[in-house]
Amino acid sequence: MKTLVTVGRGGTGKSSFSALMAKAFIEAKQAPILLVDADPDQNLAEMLGVDLKEAGKSTIADLIVSTFIEGGGTTVGVAPAQRIEARIWEKGLYESASFDFMAVGNKWIEGCYCMPNTALKNALESLTKNYKYVIVDSPAGLENLNRRITSKVDDVFDILDHSKKSQDHVKRAYRIAKEVDMKFQNFYIIGGYRFPPELGQEAETNLGFKYLGKIEADDELDQAVLDGESLLDLPNDNKAYLSVKKILETLDYL
Ligand SMILES: Nc1ncnc2c1ncn2[C@@H]1O[C@H](COP(=O)(O)OP(=O)(O)O)[C@@H](O)[C@H]1O
Ligand SMILES: [Mg+2]
Repeated sequence: MKTLVTVGRGGTGKSSFSALMAKAFIEAKQAPILLVDADPDQNLAEMLGVDLKEAGKSTIADLIVSTFIEGGGTTVGVAPAQRIEARIWEKGLYESASFDFMAVGNKWIEGCYCMPNTALKNALESLTKNYKYVIVDSPAGLENLNRRITSKVDDVFDILDHSKKSQDHVKRAYRIAKEVDMKFQNFYIIGGYRFPPELGQEAETNLGFKYLGKIEADDELDQAVLDGESLLDLPNDNKAYLSVKKILETLDYL
């Protein structure tokens, strides 16, 4: 099992990149894969054509609240991690023919709920063992990821745009990952669709992380996002998709 985490500032194209990676793995028959939307904005679901509500599923946050905070009571003999894992299998996991999906959601984001956080982490550790790739679309804060979801990551992809802030994000994300003692194998930078490609080498030198290439700007993808269509249905010769495939080929994942 490999855990791949996408980070970056808002609007750099993290969620699109996560969806396109999934498309590439699905087409290469690299199953089974799990996508985790850890961004409270929750736009990954739509990019995958998933409607959680319609499927009768809940976000992990809602399940945590109903299991530990509202429910409150203890179920004798059942450890918290097992309780939440069972709830996730039943109510949190969206299963389709080609991928599984869950959304972390945005309740219980504030405050310290140490017990549910630990329980969730243990539950996810057990649950994710079933997958070949786990793709996590993460908001800027790696500390939340570490606290609630996983401390063990194979690759972190930091998506850059044209702003200087975006390069600052790389340094901060890396520092935070180290500070919170997240164990990751690789930290990579990727040029997002607005990133000037000629700055790739410079970014690699300045930041000290391997630059994997750029995600092509693509009107067809942008229109699909605008129309709320699944990016999995983009044609296989879509420009942005081909550039993501190339990045995964560089890493020998395809
Ligand atoms: N490769 C691309 N080409 C053109 N537009 C893109 C591309 N990737 C993302 N976008 C657009 O940028 C916006 C933000 O994309 P998104 O993937 O949601 O970013 P993030 O998750 O980092 O906030 C969306 O409107 C999307 O359509
Ligand atoms: Mg996003």
